[in-house]
Amino acid sequence: MKYFIGADLGTSALKLVLTDSNRNIISSTTKAYDVSYPHPGWSEQNPSDWWEAFADGIDELTRGFDKSLISAIGVAGQMHGLVILDKDDNVIRPAILWNDNRTGRETEYLNTQIGKKKLTELTANIAFAGFTAPKLLWLINNEKDNFDKISKIMLPKDYINYRLTGVHSTDYSDASGTLMLDVKNKRWSEDMLKICGVKPEQMPKLFESYDPVGTLLPEIADKLGLCASTVVAAGAGDNAGAAIGTGTTGDGRCNISLGTSGTIFISSSNFSVDENNALHSFCHADGAYHLLGCILSAASCNKWFCDEILNTENYSLEQEKITDEMLANTDVFFLPYLMGERSPINDTDATGLFIGLRPNTKRQDMLLAVLEGVAFAIRDNIEVARKAGINIKSSTVCGGGAKSMLWLKILANVLNITLEIPQKETGPDYGSALLAMAASGNEGIQNNTGIKIKATIDPDNQLCKLYDEKYKRFQNIYPAVKELYKKIKR
Ligand code: XUL
Repeated sequence: MKYFIGADLGTSALKLVLTDSNRNIISSTTKAYDVSYPHPGWSEQNPSDWWEAFADGIDELTRGFDKSLISAIGVAGQMHGLVILDKDDNVIRPAILWNDNRTGRETEYLNTQIGKKKLTELTANIAFAGFTAPKLLWLINNEKDNFDKISKIMLPKDYINYRLTGVHSTDYSDASGTLMLDVKNKRWSEDMLKICGVKPEQMPKLFESYDPVGTLLPEIADKLGLCASTVVAAGAGDNAGAAIGTGTTGDGRCNISLGTSGTIFISSSNFSVDENNALHSFCHADGAYHLLGCILSAASCNKWFCDEILNTENYSLEQEKITDEMLANTDVFFLPYLMGERSPINDTDATGLFIGLRPNTKRQDMLLAVLEGVAFAIRDNIEVARKAGINIKSSTVCGGGAKSMLWLKILANVLNITLEIPQKETGPDYGSALLAMAASGNEGIQNNTGIKIKATIDPDNQLCKLYDEKYKRFQNIYPAVKELYKKIKR
């Protein structure tokens, strides 16, 4: 029997799984790390923290296991983050993450001066603040010294792969989120590189997610106690990795992730672009394409409200106070824009907002508003897909938030779709173990459509109607405060 390691380099933690060639999960572990918010709306992490978590995690994951049986490693990770190395391979500055909002000006420049039409022609996408290209322009405008030192540009998971193999690589799914990839033709867009002031030799070599990029450097194999022949797969952006894990491949399948971010991932055999570019048009880790809607704060809203405001670690106990009668039946609303918002409103000035508070408002009313607000923001994305003629009837779910049956019930009824809960943990870590299998010549991502479903949550007609009404009321809030956000900004 051969064994494979899959990793998910998340925003709050690194998750690792060990699987066998029958796709069974043998063990798993999680290593948490911090995000730093040096200014309002900024978010950064140190790549060295990721590497430390990875090395410690592998040690924990494989303790007592015959490591010589491990054939391959695959890593999926948080997308869009800018990691820059100098000529001696030192990290120049902390990584600027996917949910960092500092690039409002540069994003505006790209969308208006270069123009959305041109950007779409070159990359199939328009600029969003979290994408990598505006981060490079921000460096030019604000940290020119650092920009001038850049020898290699990479995405977060590529940093791990670089430390493992010494190969400067990325995969098409993750590269799609840089706004420098010609997504349709799967090559760096020379025009976009010029617009960002970078040279092709600074960019990583492109691979399919299931391609091997190399094997472990001898000193790294020694450090990790693994064989130097261990193959490293190119890996994937976390959403494409999760899609592989949940069997979201082929045409028109959907996976919703309730992680730090909330995403809807729609797989597609052919390249396509949503007319208004509200959904991202990206490459898939299965070699095809997908559409992606991303809200910047999903499970992170629940975490924030419980940790910081309610001051509790017991999230499920808090949710127990929410009764069925309360669903869609309170007047409290929450806009979940704690880090600004990406899809579909693309607004870096937006912030979180409660409205509808009264003297009798209870903590459970506010918590419910948080859970509903996230579901409504995801519905905003589903509506874009529906307008583009994509009719989603069911979706798998993954991510930390998907552990809450209450939240899933709310989501199924707000979206009016059936949610399918996979039997095993099938997030990006599991998906990247399957990519590792494929990269080492084993059957991995092929035929992974038979994901076992533990439970399904069907929408209820009556509750859907009530949520339709509440969603219509919710839709009035953001347009009414859009300009206000700009006025109250310091
Ligand atoms: C997707 C996105 C997020 C991050 C979070 O476009 O920005 O889902 O990948 O990990």
